Amino acid sequence: MLRAPLLRGSGTKTVTRRKHKTFRQSSRVTAIRSYHESKPMLIRKSPELRYSQVTPRAAYLNRRHFLAAGIGGLAALRQAKAGAKLSASKSSFSTSEPLTPLEAITHYNNFYEFGTDKEDPSKNAYKLKTSPWTVKVEGAVAKSTVLDLDAIFKIAPLEERIYRHRCVERWSMVIPWIGFPLNALLKKVDPTAKAKYVAFESLYDSKSMLPSAFAGINFPYIEGLRMDEAMHPLTLLAVGLYGENLPNQDGAPIRLVVPWKYGYKSIKSIVKIKLVEKEPPTTWNLSASNEYGFYSNVNPERDHPRWSQTKERRIGEFRLRDTVKFNGYGDQVASLYNGMDLIRKYY
Ligand code: MTE
Repeated sequence: MLRAPLLRGSGTKTVTRRKHKTFRQSSRVTAIRSYHESKPMLIRKSPELRYSQVTPRAAYLNRRHFLAAGIGGLAALRQAKAGAKLSASKSSFSTSEPLTPLEAITHYNNFYEFGTDKEDPSKNAYKLKTSPWTVKVEGAVAKSTVLDLDAIFKIAPLEERIYRHRCVERWSMVIPWIGFPLNALLKKVDPTAKAKYVAFESLYDSKSMLPSAFAGINFPYIEGLRMDEAMHPLTLLAVGLYGENLPNQDGAPIRLVVPWKYGYKSIKSIVKIKLVEKEPPTTWNLSASNEYGFYSNVNPERDHPRWSQTKERRIGEFRLRDTVKFNGYGDQVASLYNGMDLIRKYY
């Protein structure tokens, strides 16, 4: 997805033309049901940037080899199991925009540990064993701890937060997450004065997940936030969506959701949270530091070096939308970045 050669002269016009061409080229249209409506809806499955366009050829070929070797094979036909019902209160932080259908949220994913095409996680993530599960919370805290799932579900009352979700690849969705604010967990461990950043780590299980060399990024997947971003009330630890436990391909059993940042900050299947003094390394920044910054706030004024960020495609819609700075959450979060150069230095 996130790297490689393409889109020369990525001005808005060029990109728009190219996107329309991609739409016409793709004839795959899937009938799906929306959460709130019983009427079938039409969704076009056509990634903005095809994988072969944005991924180095070696990684692309390796992925094909991986699938041909049968690791994805027959078993890939199995689907990740649906989760248990969760009760959650409605949150005032929710948008009232129409929800993206569950089918799209669970079949158009980025979860490189389970494959690098959008449909791969839905085919392969059933291999993720989500129970037993623990999250280690450590570092600059007075009360380091290891939380099992029971403890995680008791940290704070669950809320339904309907957030916009914007990927750096220019597609977006609206997702009814279920979760609780990350700050509820952080307050429990009593951060010390040295806690300036929070580092997150995903599970990596070499038996059930793609090797790093095939995926083209290092595993375990790692991410980070500055402490004030982590403590912000919008920053969510999600344990479910659409009223049920998280589907595996969406990052079960617990993932981060930071709605004003590009989706790659929202790390899945978290096993470790460490409070640290220095800005922690992050997976996509390690992979291409000129393309993926630490902050990664949604920003139409800061193009990706290889494509424009002025427009986005909401999954299920035909017309492109304007990208909104901070993904529309500017009123709540813009002040976190006062005085920072979000174009050149802290993108
Ligand atoms: N977390 C892990 N562990 N592995 C990944 O490959 N992909 C990231 C992020 N979290 C990723 C991850 C990217 S690039 C995006 S856009 C979002 O997850 C996608 O979330 P979704 O599949 O639920 O839409």
